[in-house]
Amino acid sequence: MPVTVVVGAQWGDEGKAKVIDLLSKEHGYVVRYQGGHNAGHTVVVGDERYALQLIPSGILYDHVVPVIANGVVVDMITLFTEIDTLEKRGISCERLIVSSHAHLIFPWHQAWDAFAETSRGDEKIGTTLKGIGPAYADKSNRIGIRAGDVLDPAAFATKVRERAVIEDRALRAVDAAELDVDAIVDQFTTLAARLAPYVRDTVSALHDALAEGHQLLLEGAQATFLDLDHGTYPFVTSSNPTAGGACVGTGLGPRDIDRIVGITKAYTTRVGAGPFPTELTDALGDTLVDIGREFGTVTGRRRRPGWIDCVMLRQAVRLNSLSEIALTKLDVFDTFAEVKVCTGYRIGDTVLSNYPDRMSLLADVEPIYTTLPGWNRSLADIREPGDLPAEAQEFLRVVEAEIGIPIRIVGVGAERDDYLLWERPTDDATLVGSR
Ligand code: GDP
Ligand code: IMO
Ligand code: MG
Repeated sequence: MPVTVVVGAQWGDEGKAKVIDLLSKEHGYVVRYQGGHNAGHTVVVGDERYALQLIPSGILYDHVVPVIANGVVVDMITLFTEIDTLEKRGISCERLIVSSHAHLIFPWHQAWDAFAETSRGDEKIGTTLKGIGPAYADKSNRIGIRAGDVLDPAAFATKVRERAVIEDRALRAVDAAELDVDAIVDQFTTLAARLAPYVRDTVSALHDALAEGHQLLLEGAQATFLDLDHGTYPFVTSSNPTAGGACVGTGLGPRDIDRIVGITKAYTTRVGAGPFPTELTDALGDTLVDIGREFGTVTGRRRRPGWIDCVMLRQAVRLNSLSEIALTKLDVFDTFAEVKVCTGYRIGDTVLSNYPDRMSLLADVEPIYTTLPGWNRSLADIREPGDLPAEAQEFLRVVEAEIGIPIRIVGVGAERDDYLLWERPTDDATLVGSR
């Protein structure tokens, strides 16, 4: 399988990094294709916990070339903080390459992000305030400054100054912020000099790597329902995490991709505002947050908890051509008396056959649940599918049958090796949509 995409099938934080870390063993390149330092990707190795925002999660392996591809927006301050932190911990970042086409984030992007959120009053999106939306807006507006621009330092400094002056004027006009233009030019020309050695034509690098027989792993950040086009707009991010975005964001073609792994938790979480049909706002939700440690990797915000939603997951299968699922955090249910799986949505007497295309509909749906017994024992040490309690196996079977593609990897703990490969009987006819 030369090219694999890993994509979040929910609203983010599904445990993508842990799955990427696991798959990195057999891949030569690990490539971020969209988003920026709004991501928080956690890998736990023994007592060490790595929380990566920009650098691909494959960095922890010496054999991996980590790539920040053209679709990513790069905050140089975060990038170098991350590099320095990793190198202090003995992880070399020398192999990292950054696309010349990746757009750079500047302080005015963060200022506009904060201004937009403040202006929304009660209608806040709850962004990470990292400047992601404004940076992508500049890209679309064709006024962005790209990583390749750092290769001509004098022209880069002029561009930064020109933009900073314009942005300063605009920010002052709405009383949003004031920029210290000289300080920004100084700081960013220094950062640019440091970025220059990492900058490459990553499209050629990736295609050459494929031609040389390397396997590539494309690391989605955010998730399907935060996708700018297909998510719960406007409560979304400003990029396309869905698998199609992996092509645009890397320069690989659709026919280059062989395997697309969707990641879901055994339940659902979301950070920030927006509709959430299976949300648990009661004490059980608090328990889920406590046991699952559902606090943002980047912002520390409490994540909103809820039951797993197979209507969403079926839509994620469609939107991404998912070939398989990795289901994480099954162990979080170890002490639950019962667990629920949302199998459909109802509005009044009508059961919806498709995922609602309008937010107003999504806000009104009533989830239809199948309730299953819990297993009341620890899954932490289980590594063979047959050793899973019958109730846990039943949960996996119900989810697989509902979403129609196989679950291949099951997470039973936060640590790197806390997973098992799930296999189901081949004569099981419940799996209708397997490809
Ligand atoms: P990502 O953004 O999708 O990479 O996910 P995050 O790193 O933001 O959040 C996932 C959290 O769940 C991290 O703290 C992981 O260490 C943890 N995690 C991942 N898989 C499992 C699992 O199977 N069980 C448990 N208990 N924790 C997990
Ligand atoms: P990973 O890769 C969860 C959410 C924010 C907000 C919305 C828009 O760790 O899964 P933005 O700053 O992107 O403009 O915010 O998207 N969001 C995430 N939620 N996981 C993430 O990344 C997220 N990245 C952005 O909370 O609701
Ligand atoms: Mg995360």
